[in-house]
Amino acid sequence: MNSATPALRQDERTMADFFALPDRDIFAKTRPFFQFCGEIRDRGHYLYRRTLLGPSANRVTVWDEERETARSMVMMASNNYLGLTSHPRVVEGGLDAQRRYGAGSGSVSLLAGTLDLHRQLEARLAAFKGCEDAVVFPAGYSANVGCVTGLAREGDLVINDILNHASIIDGCRLSGATIKAFPHCSVEALDKLLGRTAGSHAGRLVIVDGVFSMDGDIAPLPRLIEVCRKHGARLMVDEAHATGVIGPGGRGTPAYHGVEGQVDLVVGTLSKALGGVGGFVASTREVVHYLRFYARSYMFSTALPPAVAGSMLAALDVIEDEPELLGQLWNNIRYLQAGLRNLGFNLGNQETAIFPLIIGDDLRVKEMGRMLHEAGIFANPVFYPAVSRRLSRIRLSLMATHTREDLDLTLEACERAGRKLGVI
Ligand SMILES: Cc1ncc(COP(=O)(O)O)c(C=O)c1O
Repeated sequence: MNSATPALRQDERTMADFFALPDRDIFAKTRPFFQFCGEIRDRGHYLYRRTLLGPSANRVTVWDEERETARSMVMMASNNYLGLTSHPRVVEGGLDAQRRYGAGSGSVSLLAGTLDLHRQLEARLAAFKGCEDAVVFPAGYSANVGCVTGLAREGDLVINDILNHASIIDGCRLSGATIKAFPHCSVEALDKLLGRTAGSHAGRLVIVDGVFSMDGDIAPLPRLIEVCRKHGARLMVDEAHATGVIGPGGRGTPAYHGVEGQVDLVVGTLSKALGGVGGFVASTREVVHYLRFYARSYMFSTALPPAVAGSMLAALDVIEDEPELLGQLWNNIRYLQAGLRNLGFNLGNQETAIFPLIIGDDLRVKEMGRMLHEAGIFANPVFYPAVSRRLSRIRLSLMATHTREDLDLTLEACERAGRKLGVI
């Protein structure tokens, strides 16, 4: 570290501090960060990259590094909302595609990597989202980056809900457009912002998450659509945590609000409720066609492997044929919501399968994460800089495949830790 490095008090350091450390050697920051992680590991607060020895199901087998043994835990941190990662039809769909098409697609989609499976998948996703067409990306992250950078340029204005996902923010930064934000879900503030910026930029794109990834609340789409139309701005919705979770048939936020086909750009992932990996943008035929040529994260990245495309086609079949999975997920959501509220946890504006247990004190969040881990509950502590300090939390996410026993064990462990730490 060079002498200009600011002294960081041990208890005040966060992940945000290391990237900012200036030094002539760009590797210099890696050593203090390595040491910092060792220190939080010693305190039992390092809960990253816990390793699963089997599927990401309601119960997982986790390698316990400290005790050098495998242990069973209740998984409360997976985005596998419908349990499709290991659904037999989804697994078989992938195996069958892999046997018929091989391991990889061999090229980027635009040139030589498009399989009939990809075309089928895009058509199915477009229909599922009530849009004319869809383009599939290698990840949800690259779908967001590709969508924004493909459409917005220097001179344009992108306007984010302040709680939008990092992949949207990265896309905005990379696009070169001017970036502004409005307070979380405040349609009034957006209305004013659009009014103030009328005529100041070439094009304007408003972006929201359909279901917000840290809070589990739902964007007020009908009013957002109205305001965007009033001001001539386009609206993009990230459906990562909404697809397969909300709306009739799990078709997502526009369907939930009865405004299907009225959102300009619907972005989604295949990695959460669909149980695989990949992302998509659904829109009009012309917009999707344009993105195939201008979304660099699509154009310059190899198409999804056949196994994933096959699995995702099967996942869409399962969502259609087995609506009871969505019913089970919602039974679980209601049960856990009632249980946690009765215990006195602050769940913020939670409405869906993502549960923030808002504590607002980084140290107690870390301690609670450690205690849940010890109790066999796999949950994610989330603190600054991922969320603001006053909103640090434990984040739980639910699956259709959780049993009552899983949920009761979770409630008991949350109650014990919450009482001990004085957060309930
Ligand atoms: C809201 C949101 N958008 C996009 C992504 C990126 O999706 P993926 O993990 O499929 O790349 C995520 C999650 O990781 C997310 O939570």
